[in-house]
Amino acid sequence: MRRERRRVERADDVGPYRLLRLERDGLDAGEPGQFFMLEAPGRLLPRPLSVCLATPAELAFLIDPVGPGTRPLAALAPGDAIHLLGPLGRGFRLDVERPLLVGGGIGIAPLPYLSARLGGPPALLGFRTAGHAEAAALLPGAEVVIDPVLVTDALPSGHDVLACGPEPMLRALTAIYPDAQLAWEAPMACGYGACYGCAVELDGRLQRLCIEGPVVAARRVTGASTMRAGR
Ligand SMILES: Cc1cc2nc3c(=O)[nH]c(=O)nc-3n(C[C@H](O)[C@H](O)[C@H](O)COP(=O)(O)OP(=O)(O)OC[C@H]3O[C@@H](n4cnc5c(N)ncnc54)[C@H](O)[C@@H]3O)c2cc1C
Ligand code: FES
Repeated sequence: MRRERRRVERADDVGPYRLLRLERDGLDAGEPGQFFMLEAPGRLLPRPLSVCLATPAELAFLIDPVGPGTRPLAALAPGDAIHLLGPLGRGFRLDVERPLLVGGGIGIAPLPYLSARLGGPPALLGFRTAGHAEAAALLPGAEVVIDPVLVTDALPSGHDVLACGPEPMLRALTAIYPDAQLAWEAPMACGYGACYGCAVELDGRLQRLCIEGPVVAARRVTGASTMRAGR
């Protein structure tokens, strides 16, 4: 794994989010749910972003521009260069029989790539507003609910759930589907196990989410609200 430099091919608004498409040029996309540390020009601290789309020519990342790490990434334009490191962490297991993808808000980010790898399984997405729900266009055919309706109100039974979204959504899914594969978030400074900034309680002890996850079986998350609340 090396720190690589790539050119921005395109950047498009998707509702309030920004889809940043980078030239792939031989980069390993990793497994769905894995992530890259992306470094905006002039910024010392990179930020973790999930692979959203992987084509032979491009890797794309969906960005929610919430702060000093993500806003400059969302402001990049075609022709700009960017440094990135990855793929990192552990992604989703793909050996499931009846997959159902569940996403909440920016948690939709890893699902288009996951859907492509699983051959387009059913998907259920929840968003705060109709504007945020424009991102559902990245997952054609998905069922969409908007607050105050929650994904847990519309959840069918008998599926292998693979999910990414805000912490309350993931905790609600854990109660219903203890075997679900959930992509969690924690603040990550390095992304490869060196800083311990991402330590969360798994299996009753603190472990590094960037090494053990970000995708972990629901029943392994034993800590109280140690992870960052989602949006
Ligand atoms: C493995 C992994 C994969 C990720 N993939 C993506 C992705 O594909 N797309 C994406 O947009 N983000 C993703 N994130 C989250 C993203 O890395 C963080 O939102 C980012 O670190 C924010 O950095 P910042 O410097 O812009 O904002 P910060 O300075 O960290 O925060 C700015 C403000 O936003 C708030 N904030 C930041 N993040 C969150 C959050 N998650 N929930 C609630 N409030 C928040 C802070 O409290 C603060 O008020 C991922 C995180 C992890 C760990
Ligand atoms: S982000 Fe540094 S150890 Fe996990």
